[in-house]
Amino acid sequence: MSLSVIILAAGQGKRMCSLLPKVLHPLAGKPLVEHVVHSALQLAPEQVLVVYGHGGEAVPNALKALSVLCVEQAEQHGTGHAVSVAMPLVSTLGAVLILYGDVPLITTATLQRLLDAAGVNHMGLLTATLDDPRGYGRVVRDAHNNVVRIVEEKDATPQEREIKEINTGIMAVNADRLRTWLGRLKNDNAQGEYYLTDIVGFAVEDNVQITTVQPDSAAEVMGVNTKAQLAELERVYQRAQAERYMLQGVTIADPARFDLRGELSCGREVTIDVNVVLEGKVALGDRVRIGPNNYLRNVCIGDDVEILPNCVIEDAALENGCRVGPFARIRPQTKLAEGVHIGNFVEVKKSTVGARSKINHLSYVGDSTVGKEVNVGAGTITCNYDGANKHQTVIGDGAFIGSGTELVAPVEVGAGATIGAGSTITSNAPAQKLTLTRVKQQTLDGWQRPGKASDK
Ligand code: UD1
Ligand code: CA
Repeated sequence: MSLSVIILAAGQGKRMCSLLPKVLHPLAGKPLVEHVVHSALQLAPEQVLVVYGHGGEAVPNALKALSVLCVEQAEQHGTGHAVSVAMPLVSTLGAVLILYGDVPLITTATLQRLLDAAGVNHMGLLTATLDDPRGYGRVVRDAHNNVVRIVEEKDATPQEREIKEINTGIMAVNADRLRTWLGRLKNDNAQGEYYLTDIVGFAVEDNVQITTVQPDSAAEVMGVNTKAQLAELERVYQRAQAERYMLQGVTIADPARFDLRGELSCGREVTIDVNVVLEGKVALGDRVRIGPNNYLRNVCIGDDVEILPNCVIEDAALENGCRVGPFARIRPQTKLAEGVHIGNFVEVKKSTVGARSKINHLSYVGDSTVGKEVNVGAGTITCNYDGANKHQTVIGDGAFIGSGTELVAPVEVGAGATIGAGSTITSNAPAQKLTLTRVKQQTLDGWQRPGKASDK
């Protein structure tokens, strides 16, 4: 059966109180509509059409990388009108599946069930039974429990408003029939809009069988209209992700405080403490322990690595056995070799640190190549920026950098060299020797502290 998917995404989303079109608000770091596109693409349809309007080219721009076709609905005259705008591009004689850009958690499995139920010739409606059906169109059935029509809340009688079965808006229809029915829509209703839902009544008139399907979980058909609903769905989504990783054996201290906004791969015996935010592509090896309050973005972490609390690690690679934090910042293009220790209040940027080297306290290492088994003392700073350009610092294997050292780049410290504490190193320090720059210490005899006038 050939399939076209139409995703309605032209609305402004007034209640979001934002300039960003509603469907571009992120859920787990990805625009709402992108979640819908992904679920749709997994059905392997002939095409996915996205109807956009508010926000101009913002929606098509956000979807550039995906194989979808965007169709502009310049003025929004209702869901029926939105579908008509896309219809000229529907090439198939098969089925059309209608989805909503602001209903992000719909699963491919539920959609497949709907399509199977509808076949090529019937109509499939995704409905849900809600304790509180307010705001939704209601599914009206006859005495034989057959669907008769859908009535919008604004047009419904008090009795109809009592109906708890609601229209999720998601439906599967034969393309040919849909074309004909769209032509018959009128806007003589409470909102003066062309309601897509009116085609259900036409299907009944034309003796087309209507099958209803319910989603596996109610969250799948929940729409986002407000920031509160967005936050609610974010938690539902994160909870589901956390459950998946826990099933694989990952220990998550509190699934309610787990946030993955991207892709995560985990080895065995991984532990993730509370308030950890993972973004982009994150790979964790075996026995990795992530302490509380950590932010990791695009990182590849080897086995037996421990991230202590309160670190920010971005675009970095950490090899086996590294220990980072607490309170460390690892910035882009940093590579830490096996067994490196980065301690508190240390910032490392665009640097390679060799195996078993230690930078344990209050240091800045940028644009540097640090050898293996180097000890960088507390308060060491690579002065990599001269106000115009960035320069490199190279530290050889086994070097010992005394505390409070400033390494003014470009500069090189040879292998096994020792730098005396408090030095400002402006030219290369030779290997295996002690280099220091230090004003000679002196003590002044007979010196007195100034006292206050009143003490005299
Ligand atoms: C619609 C259904 C209602 C259902 C509800 C489910 C109709 C007439 N009513 O009502 O039965 O219970 O969804 O959430 O279909 N859109 C466009 N262009 C338009 C109008 C809407 O793209 O001209 C998009 C909106 O951006 C939104 C979706 O279609 O994503 C639904 O439109 P909305 O106006 O919110 O419909 P509801 O009144 O909620
Ligand atoms: Ca709506």
